[in-house]
Formats: sequence, structure tokens, C-alpha cells
Amino acid sequence: MVLRKQKFSVPTQIHFGPGVLENLKDLISHTEKVFLVSDAGVEKAGITEKVAALLEERGVQHCLYTNITPNPTAAQVKEAHRELKAFGASTVISLGGGSPLDVGKVLAALATNEGKLEEYQWEGRPFENPPLLSIAIPTTAGTGSEVTGMSVIIDRNVKRAVLGPAIYPRVALVDPELMVTLPADLTASTGLDALSHAVEAYVGKNSSPITDALALEAIGLLGRYLWRAVADGQDLKARDRVALASTLAGLAMDQAGLGIVHSLAGPLGGFFDVPHGLSNAILLPYGMRFNAMAAPEKYARIARALGVDTRDLERWHGAIAAVEAVVCLVKEMSLTWDLKEYGVTGDRVEEMGRAAAEMRLMLNNPRQATAKQCEQIFMSVLERRDPSFEDITD
Ligand SMILES: [Fe+2]
Repeated sequence: MVLRKQKFSVPTQIHFGPGVLENLKDLISHTEKVFLVSDAGVEKAGITEKVAALLEERGVQHCLYTNITPNPTAAQVKEAHRELKAFGASTVISLGGGSPLDVGKVLAALATNEGKLEEYQWEGRPFENPPLLSIAIPTTAGTGSEVTGMSVIIDRNVKRAVLGPAIYPRVALVDPELMVTLPADLTASTGLDALSHAVEAYVGKNSSPITDALALEAIGLLGRYLWRAVADGQDLKARDRVALASTLAGLAMDQAGLGIVHSLAGPLGGFFDVPHGLSNAILLPYGMRFNAMAAPEKYARIARALGVDTRDLERWHGAIAAVEAVVCLVKEMSLTWDLKEYGVTGDRVEEMGRAAAEMRLMLNNPRQATAKQCEQIFMSVLERRDPSFEDITD
């Protein structure tokens, strides 16, 4: 066993549990001016109204901004930044799935720092000043963005993270009651995104015993409760456990990094606008199969966390059992998808393979993947081959 130094540091204060949304009243002074970042879906579900009512009760001025789409772009961030400045916001509340949260977090940092988004996103300029008061309220259990120091924004057809301490929200309010109206298909795809965070953090090169504990707990919770939340959205215990798993997986991912699944998801979102959760839900078993040979013990541990008895299995079969367990879980979600609907076709896989292999996240993957191998995985996905049998060797 190799002993090495570890560091785990997250500046975000986490409030978790049914009803914690109410805590917002104690977190914001009546003198604040709140820029509330959300999207049309969350507004339609009546959740922005709930938050606005709490702010009004406290006498807080606010401006609602909902012009955010899945896979948010740099142009959207710039437009929102102009609105935020015109309003003179002192606080940003991000409310929604990963897209509003990622936009809100970067807005809070841009608001207090000179310079353009691209300097921070592409040129590695650090944020020098602390951000505005930034509060993240997830309405899906998937991205874990409420506890991470990264905002993923599309620019130049690439999904690229803006990173740094200034991106972390100061407070995360994770209230499972806000998730009960999320439709079954979104519950499934976002939950499988959370599972991909936990799995990738667990097997990634930067994993540590601390992140392993968080990731394994998240995997176990998702194995036990995700199907329940999909089957019955009103099952508050299932929503609560899945929300907890998502936040734990977010913490693990933030500290340990991601890998091939998110690298492959990059071009699906960047080129074709496939929603992030769906991309990862589709790719997770394929990415796991590719990596199994690089971390067989950890894969067998994942299988056990998902309820598979691996005691009588040989090392390799224990690892493949994890892939099979995830394939079963995905099937159980009855997730229907057709990447051709997004314009993904066989003649683009070469370009997609190249883009995936170049993603920064790939450096953390336990098995290095070439552009050709990524291309082969995309072909397997398009042809809907069974990931349990897909041996990508060359
Ligand atoms: Fe993700």
C-alpha cells in the first residue's frame, strides 16, 4: 500500500434535508440585492416562485434571470453578466440543475473581478477577488455542482470548465422537497450522472481514502434508491437519499476529478447539445467497461456497493460484475434515447474521438485512451452494442 499525503478542502457550507430551503431567510440580509439565476423549466415547475416568495417575505430586492439552456454557453454567461451588473446585484442565487448552477457560480466570480470570461476559461487567469455571496440550490440530484469549484461552459464548441476557489458557492441548500416534481426521465439521467461522478472519482488517479469513502457511499445509495425515485417521484425518502448521494458524489468529484465518461460526454454536449445527464447515463457503462482492466479491485468494490456478491468471483469477473450491475440499473430506469435525434452519426465519430481524447479530464482516467479507442466507444454506443462485452483494445 502506498502511503501519500492527502488534502480535502471545500469552502461551501452545506445545508441538507427536506425543508432547508427555508434557511434562505436567515442567510440573506434585507439589504442584499439578489440576482436569481434559473431556467424556464424550473420556473414552470413553480420553484422560482417559491424562492422569490421567501425573498419577498424577507424584504429582499431580486431580479429573476431564466435565459439559460442545457449546456450553457459563454454567450449566455456574458448576457447574464450584463443583466447582473445593470441590476447591481450583491448576491447570486443559482437555482436549478447543473446549467443554472454553473452559470450562477461563474457570474458571482465575474461580478467582482475585472476581465473577460475567456481569460478565466481559456488563459488560466485566476480570480483575484472573492465572489459575491453565492448560494446554490439544486433542483435535480445529479450534477453536484452545489459543492464544486468548477463551472462548465461551452465555448468554441468545447465544454470547458472555469476553475478556482472563487467558483465554489458559499452555501449549498440541498432540499429534496424541491426535487419531487422532477420527471422520471430527468430523475434517471441526472441520477446516473451522479453515479458517473462517484464511479469516476473512485477509480480516478487522484482518488484518496477520503474521496473513496464519499464515492462508495454515493454508489451504494444510488444503487438502492435511484430506481425508487424514478418509479415514484413523490417518494421523499428516495429523493432524500438520491440527493445526498449526488452531493457526496459532487464532493468526491471536486477533489478527485473525473475521467473517460465525462471526456466522452464533452463532444456529445459541445458538438450536438446532448444534455449532460443523458450523455453520461448513456456512456457510463461503456466507460466503465473500458476502465475495468485498469482497476479491477476497485471495480469489484463498486459491484459490492451495488449489491452484487463477488465473494466467489475471480478478480476479473468481479470487475465486470460492476459493469453488468450498472447496465442493469440503466435498463431498470427505462431510459429511452436516440443519439441520431441530436444529429450524432457514424461519420462524426472520428472527430468526436479526437475531441474526447484531448479533454483535460482524461489525464485523471486510470487507463489512457487514444482518439481511436474513443472513436470505437462512440461506434459501440451508436450501434447499441452491449457494453459488458465491448473489449476496446486498440
Ligand atoms: Fe457530470
